[in-house]
Amino acid sequence: MSHLIAPSILTANFLNLEKEIEMLNDSSADWIHLDVMDGVFVPNLSFGFHVIRQIRKITTLPLDAHLMIVDADKYIEKFQKSGVDKLTVHFEACPNLPATINKIKSLGMDAGVAISPDTPVDVLKDILPELDLVLNMTVHPGYGGQKFIEQSWGKIRQLREMIDNANLNTLIQIDGGVGLENFGGLRDAGVDCFVVGNTVFASDDPKDTIQELKQTSG
Ligand code: DX5
Ligand code: ZN
Repeated sequence: MSHLIAPSILTANFLNLEKEIEMLNDSSADWIHLDVMDGVFVPNLSFGFHVIRQIRKITTLPLDAHLMIVDADKYIEKFQKSGVDKLTVHFEACPNLPATINKIKSLGMDAGVAISPDTPVDVLKDILPELDLVLNMTVHPGYGGQKFIEQSWGKIRQLREMIDNANLNTLIQIDGGVGLENFGGLRDAGVDCFVVGNTVFASDDPKDTIQELKQTSG
């Protein structure tokens, strides 16, 4: 399967969000990555249901929501009703992860778990067979445009081995500091889905950059 590109709109131009989404619709992007932040789990705030519902109206691309929030259980149904297709919660913020994952899947969404850079991959061993994706954060969550954390390579390889040894179809998604310079190596290391924010939205031609990432083989 060829790799997936999920542009994150966190660093998009929110004064022209409709235009940015139309650009993504016209591009070779596979998903739209929505970074939801509550100012508690991460020291930043982003956007909520109203924005997600508006985006849902103007795109058929799968909406991939990354919840950097506490109390995710309280909002799972609202994300589903807002049109989210894939819902990823943070391991570090979920007191009862199996129940949260069950709830997400019972509402027909794909379920993902994100782990921050300091969280070891082993914590996912038991829940892995239930997951559609694992989001291995390659920056500390909270902001776009940060530098890729080099220690992530080992975690990616470990995750790849865990998934392959268990014969699972769980996707490996990474998020933060992904660019043209590290993309090929990351593809080689076994990443399936790339969240790309700044590299896309800060580039002169976002559509062209997405195409270049899509065509980059490992
Ligand atoms: C950070 C978010 C990332 C970010 C994208 O907490 O999860 O999705 O917006 O990062 P860059 O801009 O580095 O690709
Ligand atoms: Zn994200």
